[in-house]
Amino acid sequence: MEYVIIGGEIVDRGHATVDIEDRGYQFGDGVYEVIRVYNGKMFTAREHLIRLQESAEKISIQIPYQPTELEEMLKGLIDKNNLSNGIIYMQFTRGESPRNHAFPHNVAPTFVAYTRKVDRPVSSMQEGVKAIFIDDIRWLRCDIKSLNLLGNLLAKQKAVEAGCFEAIQHRGDIVTEGSSSNVAIVKNGTVITHPANNLILNGITRQKVKQVCEQNKIPFEEKEFTIEDVLHADEVFLSGTTVEVTPIVEVEEKKISGGTPGQVTKKLQQLIMDEIVKECGTIE
Ligand SMILES: Cc1ncc(COP(=O)(O)O)c(C=O)c1O
Repeated sequence: MEYVIIGGEIVDRGHATVDIEDRGYQFGDGVYEVIRVYNGKMFTAREHLIRLQESAEKISIQIPYQPTELEEMLKGLIDKNNLSNGIIYMQFTRGESPRNHAFPHNVAPTFVAYTRKVDRPVSSMQEGVKAIFIDDIRWLRCDIKSLNLLGNLLAKQKAVEAGCFEAIQHRGDIVTEGSSSNVAIVKNGTVITHPANNLILNGITRQKVKQVCEQNKIPFEEKEFTIEDVLHADEVFLSGTTVEVTPIVEVEEKKISGGTPGQVTKKLQQLIMDEIVKECGTIE
């Protein structure tokens, strides 16, 4: 039996239904989060739940729970589903209301959450992945983790069709982020990633990478970099909740760092793993 949360209650998935006029379904009018679960424990739950709150506030959705309350509910679902390693997904939409672009009044947000078993992408992390470049055609509020992901989906699909793992998006020459990850390059020992502004999602993993860099005296800069910088980088990597730190070893068929993961990327993988172990215990 698989359980989910709907409307604050844990129920059998078969009994969870959402109205066809839910604004998430009709407009993508909502926000979401994905939190990694290792050994049955959430990693960086607090950070994700604060970002969820912030995303909701940016589009004037009122989440009717405090982050600590939400965390308890999510823990309950993880336990109920006996999830050891995987993810927990949650979303809040503006709620159910007759279709109308303007926000409805006095409508309660719809909250759903479910868990899924997902293995760590060990082989891509060890061997690296390929990527393509693609125009970033998304809106100008990519800092909001909104349900509206069409631009991201189109980018990812292009990557898959090209036999690649990720699409590195760019506005003009400036690289923003991946379709479902942040992108960083390493040049002369310095990790460089796009500033956390409206053009990217400020990834929780990106923030962890920044923290471990600072703690370990690895130079870290938040500044714009270009397509050319990627092609001439010593190393390139993705960061994200499910990909952790994944090396990119080829972009548009050009090999990066000789086609193998670089030293700084490997070091960051280890430092992030140390953080995971600190919070969730040893990973086999
Ligand atoms: C567009 C985008 N950027 C960045 C990220 C990485 O964010 P996080 O590290 O919080 O998973 C994601 C993750 O889903 C994403 O969808």
